[in-house]
Amino acid sequence: MSSPFIAILGTGAHSPAKVLTNHDLARLVDTTDEWIVTRTGIRERHIAGKNETTSQMAAAAARAALADAGVSAEQVDLIILATLTPDQPMPATACLVQHLLGVPARAACFDLNAACSGFLYALDTAWAMLGSGRYKHALVIGAEKMSSLVDWTDRSTCVLFGDGAGAAVLGPARGTAQILGARLYAEGAHAHLLCVPRGPKPVIQMKGREIFKNAVREMEDATREILEQHGLTAAQISCVIPHQANLRIIESLGQYLGLPPERFVVNLDRHGNTSAASIPLALDEARRSGRVRAGDTTLLVAFGAGLTYGSALVRW
Ligand code: COA
Repeated sequence: MSSPFIAILGTGAHSPAKVLTNHDLARLVDTTDEWIVTRTGIRERHIAGKNETTSQMAAAAARAALADAGVSAEQVDLIILATLTPDQPMPATACLVQHLLGVPARAACFDLNAACSGFLYALDTAWAMLGSGRYKHALVIGAEKMSSLVDWTDRSTCVLFGDGAGAAVLGPARGTAQILGARLYAEGAHAHLLCVPRGPKPVIQMKGREIFKNAVREMEDATREILEQHGLTAAQISCVIPHQANLRIIESLGQYLGLPPERFVVNLDRHGNTSAASIPLALDEARRSGRVRAGDTTLLVAFGAGLTYGSALVRW
């Protein structure tokens, strides 16, 4: 069912000041800049300081998104924060963000964990809630402190991830901009391929090759299905904002869809994989650099632990 009158009114992003390059990592584990760039496309990532929290990064991105949208904190009545690295198990980090922003008590605030697909899950949830007419302005945020879950002795995973936050303000459409559709999926049978098992010091465990293969197939399926639903061809998509995990995954997706590399927004060279923050960070960069123009139709497409995956179509 479509809710045709809801749009993304503004976006914002925040990255911690500290940058960790591949050369820095080569001093920590047995790796090289050349290996990381060739296999992943990643050159550097931002890493939060010891006292820098997911809620603080989320609030910074949200403030930028509110300013961009021309919406005040008082007008927000829904905050959905996608994260797998909440400040604490409880309360929800969204409530901490609410407090930091001064969003009024009548707002509903909750966290959502769909790993790297989290922003799309949060976007679809907010879209449905706004579409019901019971909420008017939503903050949809993806924020992660992945560095807190990384095993800094495991070279096969520690080179991949970074920290950061991205946010979007959703509200009543102005002009022709609107969210056209969203489609979410999950395959719990593959949950073991990428997980953080409980333990004294929980860290990310991943079967990289299997994840790679699933990622390309799932993002292709999610793209084809949403395009078909909306009677669009891939050629009609002016820009694709994919989850930023690995440049080779994005290139393979482009080949399967018959889309040239320049159609894809890529910022993983500077951010690595920031999980739920990855799509909103890339979206904000794309909008601010003029890659998303009024009237354009943009495809957002993600995959992540779960395995979750999904797609969304947004008109500007
Ligand atoms: N530096 C140097 N060598 C490394 C390394 C590193 N950082 N990480 C792994 N290697 C080694 C491995 O030990 C292995 O050595 P071996 O052949 O002697 O055993 C070799 O490189 C090949 O490892 P493999 O895992 O097969 O490499 P790959 O080409 O599959 O690339 C990933 C590894 C992780 C980059 C790739 O599988 C990937 O990106 N997968 C998807 C991960 C992802 O997107 N996760 C997030 C999902 S949201």
